[in-house]
Amino acid sequence: MPERDAAELLRDAKRVVAFTGAGMSAESGVPTFRDALTGLWARFDPKTLATPAAFAADPALVWGWYEWRRAGVERVHPNAGHRAVASIESHVPNTVVITQNVDDLHERAGSGTPIHLHGSLFTPRCSSCSRPVSLSSLPPSPDAASRPEGERDGRIPPPQCAACGAPVRPGVVWFGEELSTDALSAATEAAFGCDLLFTVGTSGLVYPAAEIPYVAARSGATVVQINPEPTALDAVADVNLRGTAARILPELVARAWADR
Ligand code: OAD
Repeated sequence: MPERDAAELLRDAKRVVAFTGAGMSAESGVPTFRDALTGLWARFDPKTLATPAAFAADPALVWGWYEWRRAGVERVHPNAGHRAVASIESHVPNTVVITQNVDDLHERAGSGTPIHLHGSLFTPRCSSCSRPVSLSSLPPSPDAASRPEGERDGRIPPPQCAACGAPVRPGVVWFGEELSTDALSAATEAAFGCDLLFTVGTSGLVYPAAEIPYVAARSGATVVQINPEPTALDAVADVNLRGTAARILPELVARAWADR
């Protein structure tokens, strides 16, 4: 089905889900995970930083790495794909954004309340009592923004929780941790109830997040994939648009509502 038909699907849709992965933010300059050479994991083993055991063993190393990632996100901007998703929300009131990304680029592009299945770099919390910690209360990470690429694993001792004194941790889901049940059930409910789901910029390899497009397909929705490469989700996609988020999504939105 050519892009034009996907645009017609979008124009006629009553309930849309945008399910996004790291590729959604790639054109903003945020590294993906598995892209060889440029992906984050091309340069470090996630098991050394993205696990509860890693944080327990060396909180400063793990906190420093996430502060470096957060500073990196703060230095970039939403791309035309993020803005196109926000535009879909303005045309189709029943649109839900479900993201695996921990950046805040959907929010900064105007998406109201994306569901962050894997948490966010911008919602730190106490590692013991889980009390949320506002970013404004954190000391500016002195060198996170300026740390050269090669020192991305520079150590920054995490702040202490004001309530119990335990170390503050990043608000992201680590390997071996469960997703928030609230986020997962909200995402599953949205996928079950939509009539059109876009899966954008995800390899579809990590569960339970990768189940979301299948939930939509099983409930009768049309699934449109936007990705320059084949993925594990090719099998569930009714439409495979081979291209990047920042190119394809704005084109679809323009075609869908050309006269409005
Ligand atoms: P991956 O790095 O696994 O996949 C990124 C996908 O984006 C690939 O399929 C690329 O082909 C595609 N891509 C790259 N550039 C793109 C662009 N400009 N436009 C559209 N697509 C593009 O990232 P995710 O699938 O998001 O979980 O990874 C899923 C999860 O694995 C992450 O949320 C993370 C990781 O474990 C946690 O940290 C819990």
